[in-house]
Amino acid sequence: MLESQNYRYEEAEEPYRMHLNECLYNPPEHIIKAVTSTLSQCNYYPNLHMFNRFRLLLAEYNKVSIDNVYPFLGADNALRTLFMALADPGDAILSVKPTFSMIEVYARFMGLDMVTVPLQENDDEWTVDMNLLIELAKNAHLVVLVDPNNPTGNAIIKGDRKILEAIALNTKGFVIVDETYYEFSGYSVARYVNEYPNVIVVRSMSKAFCLAGFRLGYIIADKSVIDSVTKVLTPFDIPTPSLAAGIAALENLDYHLKIIEKIKQLRDYLYSELKRMGFKVYRSYANFLLIRDDRRLDSHLKKFGIAIKRIAQDLYRVSIGNEDSVKLFIESLRELA
Ligand SMILES: Cc1ncc(COP(=O)(O)O)c(C=O)c1O
Repeated sequence: MLESQNYRYEEAEEPYRMHLNECLYNPPEHIIKAVTSTLSQCNYYPNLHMFNRFRLLLAEYNKVSIDNVYPFLGADNALRTLFMALADPGDAILSVKPTFSMIEVYARFMGLDMVTVPLQENDDEWTVDMNLLIELAKNAHLVVLVDPNNPTGNAIIKGDRKILEAIALNTKGFVIVDETYYEFSGYSVARYVNEYPNVIVVRSMSKAFCLAGFRLGYIIADKSVIDSVTKVLTPFDIPTPSLAAGIAALENLDYHLKIIEKIKQLRDYLYSELKRMGFKVYRSYANFLLIRDDRRLDSHLKKFGIAIKRIAQDLYRVSIGNEDSVKLFIESLRELA
């Protein structure tokens, strides 16, 4: 048995949670109301009509057919299911480094042979050697790309059809594109899944829709792929309150579009402020920024009630949160600037 590792997490006690790329805006009244109204019916299994309604709304939101989309309990569960369905022990998996930590957790757990292309730092942006990635894709059974990438925030495929095609046609296996941060980047490869049926897009409603506690995510893929990877799932997998939350969110898209716009503005504002204050910060297409600093920024910010994530010795990831958290974050770092 190959060495396995768990996701390590201790609950943060700080009131300003800027460590998990969560949304710091609470669910709005229309979502609370929709969820609350289902609670008295939770002695029953989730309703098939609600599941189908959620699936239809996801299809409309993504401008794909209902057969091309399937709900999951968060992007995490989608990834887990895809790994189980598409890879066998000993298979080669290709990704970039650094990336979302769970990819390595799943790869190790399943005994996969993980190959990574290291991201390179170019001034205030991270880049990937795409020729190398396309070359290495030849021998991969599974290519898993987080786009925009976590924790670096850079684009990988950036919705570019030619790049997607080169990877998809070059590999003997599947290409999973984890677009958990899609709404903040605005680009996607979702529209190409029917043309390249070995491409599967993974999405989340935890970030842009501010629904992390409801555990909602979904995949977008060719119908044949959806049919095959969802064989072991049932329409009962998503709890009724979560279905209600997802439906209410997608029926009131305008509310979320405003929040997304706000978070993007705050991200760009925080980036400029940090730069102005002399911090080394990288450009990001997601709802977080990565900062390089050899001081213990996490311990310093803890004193101000802010939790951030220490990614490596001198790398810190901060999620954007809301106006208050961004303001406090800047004020708290002033004495270090
Ligand atoms: C790249 C990536 N994929 C998946 C997830 C998990 O998302 P979800 O909350 O939908 O399970 C995260 C969470 O931070 C993430 O960063």
